[in-house]
Amino acid sequence: KKIAVLISGNGSNLQAIIDDQQKHPQLYRIALVVSNRPNAYGLKRAAQAGIPTLVIDHTNYSDRESFDAELQRQLDQSEVDLIVLAGFMRILTQGFTQHFLGKMLNIHPSLLPKYTGLNTHQRAIDAGDSEHGLSIHFVTPELDGGPVILQDKVLIEPGESADSLQQKIHQREHIAYPLAVRWFCEGKIALQDNRVQYQQKTL
Ligand code: GRF
Repeated sequence: KKIAVLISGNGSNLQAIIDDQQKHPQLYRIALVVSNRPNAYGLKRAAQAGIPTLVIDHTNYSDRESFDAELQRQLDQSEVDLIVLAGFMRILTQGFTQHFLGKMLNIHPSLLPKYTGLNTHQRAIDAGDSEHGLSIHFVTPELDGGPVILQDKVLIEPGESADSLQQKIHQREHIAYPLAVRWFCEGKIALQDNRVQYQQKTL
């Protein structure tokens, strides 16, 4: 399978997927990395791994529709089977999410449906939650609202800071995201009627 990874920043999840694809070269390969920010560090990670990169700078577009149209055009042209949002900090239009429905994954640092949007770690602490985590979901028009594929949890210790919580969750993300990508590429998961279908692999 061919996948595209969309980033806006550091790209540590991208790195985890780069490392994973090297262990599973038959299963999938990252054909393209797209960033909406020209100076995203993740672009360097991709270049270092010999992966083609593309910058579509959102500041050059007057509205979401025109930005998404260009992004869609590029992704269609690259003929990828899966789009992986990895710290891609843009809200996508309904038309875009519909176009790639069932072919796009996102990772979100909370136990969805709790804490959609930003600052999830601080919000979980402020709410007095005893646990927090990450969710990987299919992307649908609803922001951070698509069907969840898998979650992982960490405990919030007394006196825990948002920073340390973020670090703990990041480490888990780097394990969970490549796993979900592999599941998709192996045909073990699919989106059907706005639900995740888990397929048993027959031997
Ligand atoms: C991750 O915490 C992810 O959950 C969120 O954005 C962050 C991206 O980090 N959507 P990185 O760029 O992969 O290091």
